[in-house]
Amino acid sequence: MKLSNIIYCKDNLSKMREMPDEFVDVVYADPPFFSNKYYEVIWHDGAEIRSFEDRWKGGIHHYIEWMRERCFEIHKLLKPSGAFFLHCDWHASHYLKVMLDEVFGGSNFRNELVWHYTGRRMKSSRRFNQKHHTILFYAKSKKMKLRDYPTEPYTHDEYVKMKKQKVHVDNDGREWIWGHAGKGKSHNYRIYIDKAIAEGRAVDSVWDIPIINTSSKERLGYPTQKPEALLERIIKASSNEGDLVLDPFCGCGTTIAVAQRLNRQWIGIDVSPTACRLMKRRVEIAGAKEVEVAELPMSIEELKTLTPIEFQNWIVGAMGGTPSVRKVHDMGIDGYTFFDRVPVQVKQSERAGRPVVDDFETALRRHGESAVKAAKERKNTHFALQGIIVAFSFTKGAHEEAARAKGEGIDIQLLTVAKIVKEFEA
Ligand SMILES: C[S@@+](CC[C@H](N)C(=O)[O-])C[C@H]1O[C@@H](n2cnc3c(N)ncnc32)[C@H](O)[C@@H]1O
Repeated sequence: MKLSNIIYCKDNLSKMREMPDEFVDVVYADPPFFSNKYYEVIWHDGAEIRSFEDRWKGGIHHYIEWMRERCFEIHKLLKPSGAFFLHCDWHASHYLKVMLDEVFGGSNFRNELVWHYTGRRMKSSRRFNQKHHTILFYAKSKKMKLRDYPTEPYTHDEYVKMKKQKVHVDNDGREWIWGHAGKGKSHNYRIYIDKAIAEGRAVDSVWDIPIINTSSKERLGYPTQKPEALLERIIKASSNEGDLVLDPFCGCGTTIAVAQRLNRQWIGIDVSPTACRLMKRRVEIAGAKEVEVAELPMSIEELKTLTPIEFQNWIVGAMGGTPSVRKVHDMGIDGYTFFDRVPVQVKQSERAGRPVVDDFETALRRHGESAVKAAKERKNTHFALQGIIVAFSFTKGAHEEAARAKGEGIDIQLLTVAKIVKEFEA
């Protein structure tokens, strides 16, 4: 098994269980929050649609047990000098802290970091504006030391105000104040203000880092995408160049892109094939060479376990096409083939029947105008309309219906998932 600079498309629990003990320096995990939301995501480039369900039918205890199993594996993978950062919010941070005290040991708790972000502030008669997330920071053991303590800049005036001391000026015109070696010690020394400002102020446990604004180039359209500045602070503080950073809920790849840029080794895991493909692109832009996405679902059985949108994305992607961007009202068209933009409909079912073909025919007729135009451009005089339906299998009725439609000038191809998988593997 390759152990770094690789993306795994798999449930992180089974992937982490295959990995050796104590080989990772830092884990940052940003799991789906316990927030009962269903995200449907349109990527920035408008070409791909992704979703992940953030819904826990068994309630908070189910969620915590789900997380516990994963945190247990994370603990096992970390070196004794390793660090773990769990990104969460008010929905479950209090339950997660109790669970992590059990898994890591309460004495290995290091900080509750508050990521405070700005944004629109509204008044409410019920509660205060919720403008922070919580990052729980645990060490594997006493051996974990912060590497590069983060600092932030401050101005001359802020520094002087904070120190509340008389400012002196030496013969060269440099400003300085008295520094005290420690309580009860008489030995004082000079702190030059320009030097102190250049070194910056050590940050505390509240981190003011703006969210990625809507017009930022960094924004990829993923609603839970975290700012690179946040990951940069975490990675620099907890690892050295060459160390290994793991993100088991890697999303659109913020952690591994930053790790790559900071010359760390990295591993990204995400259960979503679309997220993994996006991650690959992102980390290659950050400088990684020909990154492998391992374990993309391939077998029919694995494809059956994907969520409907993931399944559609996988099928259309495997056909070399682009998924439809208008997911909610896609009018029966889930994507288009790459070259000739033939509409594709994807059914995650066995025995797709006559009604499926009928409905798709209606969708194609609606889509007709542009299809006729495309057909003319391709000088295809045989069929004004064409489309492809993909399913695990089709009934006899579906084939009969497709033959009838063909007689009326509408070419509907029925393709099985098995055929696409075979071609994809070839
Ligand atoms: C909150 S997002 C992570 C966002 C990420 N920090 C970023 O900046 O893009 C959570 C991710 O966890 C993934 N995920 C959910 N359950 C998973 C599992 N069991 N194994 C691996 N990944 C999972 C989802 O597909 C989603 O991409």
